[in-house]
Amino acid sequence: MALNFNFLRLLVFIFSLVSFIMSFPTTTKAKELDYQGPKCSEDRTTFNSTYQVNLITLFSSLSSKATITIFYNDTIIENKDTSNAVYGLFMCRGDVPFDVCGDCVQSATHVLSTECTLSLWGMIWYEQCMVRYSNTRFFSVPKTEPFTPMSNNFNVSINQDIFVPLLVNTVNETADQAAVSLNKYATKEQKVTKLETIFTLAQCTQDLSVGDCRSCLGFAVGQIHECCKGRRGGRVLLPSCNVRFEFYPFYRHGVSKALAPATKYPIMESKYSPDPGYLSHQCSNNQPTNLQKRLTTLLSDLSSKARNSNDNEFYMSNVSNNFFGLYLCRADLPPSLCADCIVNATNRIASECPTSMEAVIWYNHCLLRYSNYSFFRTMGTNPRFKMMNVTDYDDYKSYYKYELWSALTKVAGEIWDRSDRYYTESFVLNDVQRLFVQGQCTKDLATLDCNYCIHDVIETAIPWCCLGSIGGRVLYPSCTLRFELFPFYRNGTDDQPPSTTTTVKTGRSRAVILIIVVPVVALVLLLSFCCYLFRKRARKSYNKTILRKNFGHESNTIGGLQFNLSIIEAATNHFSQENEIGKGGFGQVYKGVLPDGRHIAVKRLSKSSTQGATEFKNEVLLIAKLQHKNLVAFLGFCLEGQEKILIYEYVPNKSLDYFLFGLLLFPS
Ligand SMILES: *[C@@H]1O[C@H](CO)[C@@H](O)[C@H](O)[C@H]1NC(C)=O
Ligand SMILES: *[C@@H]1O[C@H](CO)[C@@H](O)[C@H](O)[C@H]1NC(C)=O
Ligand SMILES: *[C@@H]1O[C@H](CO)[C@@H](O)[C@H](O)[C@H]1NC(C)=O
Ligand SMILES: *[C@@H]1O[C@H](CO)[C@@H](O)[C@H](O)[C@H]1NC(C)=O
Ligand SMILES: *[C@@H]1O[C@H](CO)[C@@H](O)[C@H](O)[C@H]1NC(C)=O
Ligand SMILES: *[C@@H]1O[C@H](CO)[C@@H](O)[C@H](O)[C@H]1NC(C)=O
Ligand SMILES: *[C@@H]1O[C@H](CO)[C@@H](O)[C@H](O)[C@H]1NC(C)=O
Ligand SMILES: *[C@@H]1O[C@H](CO)[C@@H](O)[C@H](O)[C@H]1NC(C)=O
Ligand SMILES: *[C@@H]1O[C@H](CO)[C@@H](O)[C@H](O)[C@H]1NC(C)=O
Repeated sequence: MALNFNFLRLLVFIFSLVSFIMSFPTTTKAKELDYQGPKCSEDRTTFNSTYQVNLITLFSSLSSKATITIFYNDTIIENKDTSNAVYGLFMCRGDVPFDVCGDCVQSATHVLSTECTLSLWGMIWYEQCMVRYSNTRFFSVPKTEPFTPMSNNFNVSINQDIFVPLLVNTVNETADQAAVSLNKYATKEQKVTKLETIFTLAQCTQDLSVGDCRSCLGFAVGQIHECCKGRRGGRVLLPSCNVRFEFYPFYRHGVSKALAPATKYPIMESKYSPDPGYLSHQCSNNQPTNLQKRLTTLLSDLSSKARNSNDNEFYMSNVSNNFFGLYLCRADLPPSLCADCIVNATNRIASECPTSMEAVIWYNHCLLRYSNYSFFRTMGTNPRFKMMNVTDYDDYKSYYKYELWSALTKVAGEIWDRSDRYYTESFVLNDVQRLFVQGQCTKDLATLDCNYCIHDVIETAIPWCCLGSIGGRVLYPSCTLRFELFPFYRNGTDDQPPSTTTTVKTGRSRAVILIIVVPVVALVLLLSFCCYLFRKRARKSYNKTILRKNFGHESNTIGGLQFNLSIIEAATNHFSQENEIGKGGFGQVYKGVLPDGRHIAVKRLSKSSTQGATEFKNEVLLIAKLQHKNLVAFLGFCLEGQEKILIYEYVPNKSLDYFLFGLLLFPS
């Protein structure tokens, strides 16, 4: 009897564990959110213990509460057994709507349940929520350890002696307001230069008293000064409170019933316009003697490629390896419009910059640049062309700024992933307005550089304080980003000729075949499509989890460098012997070819190598940072299962020692 009871209990337990975990795969949106941590205790409970059962109950309780409130603390005690009580809470950022809060907490409890399995306490921070649990009652007790400082990748250019006191003072004032406010949350905007504003945020868990909240935030303010000196942003995440500052509007501000103000253009451009749309150019200021012939040769090569090829979106060319040029057309245009733009651009730049060793020219439809130094695969963020409605009217409370920022950030997160380095998306702003965003990098850029370039635009080039209206663009030599309230790009479907109605065939046998074949084919297609989608999603979030585990905050910048093992296996013919080009203490080096035609050298670390994940991580970060010094181009890495693999561009005439014993090696 007792055995039966226990067996039943076990079944119920396994069922609830499985159903809790199974409740996630459908919400892929929540699964892919970025997070910090989790931090988990070393002390563990045992599988199937009362504590673990209570923990699962807590997680589902928190997930369901998150759809109706942004803060909740809960205690789970079964059968008055206080020794196995679980205490937990979640807090969503003060501006977060319930549906977003619900998704965030659901994702957080899911990650805690899989990554802190059996830990007695754990906590995790997301951009928009945090979740914490423990076996001791922690409500109303301010806790500042463990804390996680994070800083933005970009540096401030403002004099530190002026900026730092202003920053600390603003964050401190935000903390004052948060402590006394009802929901323990406050934000603030402070202008730091004519076109730059810092956006600050402070928040405590709502179980704290005013004094405890203030002391927790006081500690956090002290840390932000430490962690983020000279950076264009940072946050300090503590168990009981957090603070953050950025140069962009990262939180929602109010609700707007009014329409977003649209930028007005003198001539409203149509997405079907054949006009290349000249915008601007920049020429260097030097008077070299031996330029003319090289320039003419280069420009005619570029324009003849554009005119004579149907695959002409992007092209790089050089004259005798000492004069270099490239062009990039908007990926949504047909080849004929690309050719028109490049022909116009080559003519125009030849007449505008006849004595320049370096120049760049931008059009609506294309960009073209040349130089006497080899800039291929090197990110260029200067010179810049910006077209936005900058006003000195400080419309801090503009609701649409956050919407714009989050749309641009979404697009930035999509581009680097794609082989064409191009992405567009439209976003619903309200009942009548949509926001259209288009981003593109030159195709020679490494994924990491593309990601960095677009973030540079969003975080440093857009004057977030002073956008008078929505609509504008920023063009760099290596990437472009544009946003408007009207459709200015062509999208896949609307360029298709109107679909011709298929002629209906009569005849009995054909009808029978169709009736049988069509559903079967459709079913097979549907199944394989679903399977593909599912695998793609699973792969993406799996990759992100691995990255997150190994690189923490750095994973944002390094994300674009990660390769799937399957791609590397295909490229090297499953690490075949013919492809092996060398061997060292660390493992083997193989050559291979990526699907896009790039030749690669693949360093596969032997599984028996003592090289730990930490050293691997450090090497990848080191190489990623060295990238710009133009050694051997580092393309990425692969970290799956037992495999630790580094991928470089393969330069056949470089000595093999370069890969085997060069700088880019683990110290042995
Ligand atoms: C689960 O717990 C029950 C009762 O507490 C016990 O009888 C059973 O053996 C446990 N099962 C496992 C796999 O630990
Ligand atoms: C939540 O925290 C408050 C403040 O400490 C406490 O009074 C309350 O009992 C807690 N609620 C639950 C359900 O544990
Ligand atoms: C920011 O400054 C740090 C330290 O001064 C420097 O190491 C880093 O390269 C700089 N980053 C950028 C993007 O300029
Ligand atoms: C922050 O403000 C408090 C008063 O609200 C003050 O006592 C404290 O010195 C300030 N801290 C800093 C770093 O300015
Ligand atoms: C710029 O923004 C201001 C403030 O919203 C608006 O009045 C003005 O019309 C805008 N200018 C253009 C050219 O869109
Ligand atoms: C320059 O062009 C030559 C011939 O097409 C090519 O072999 C070489 O790799 C090019 N150089 C660069 C830096 O792209
Ligand atoms: C470039 O395009 C503009 C506008 O379409 C046109 O007026 C001009 O004649 C063109 N120039 C050349 C050199 O093709
Ligand atoms: C490019 O041209 C400029 C101006 O003539 C010269 O100073 C510079 O050394 C050249 N660079 C290269 C890499 O040839
Ligand atoms: C293309 O744009 C139109 C509106 O201009 C929109 O209705 C349609 O859904 C878009 N199609 C795609 C595939 O994005």
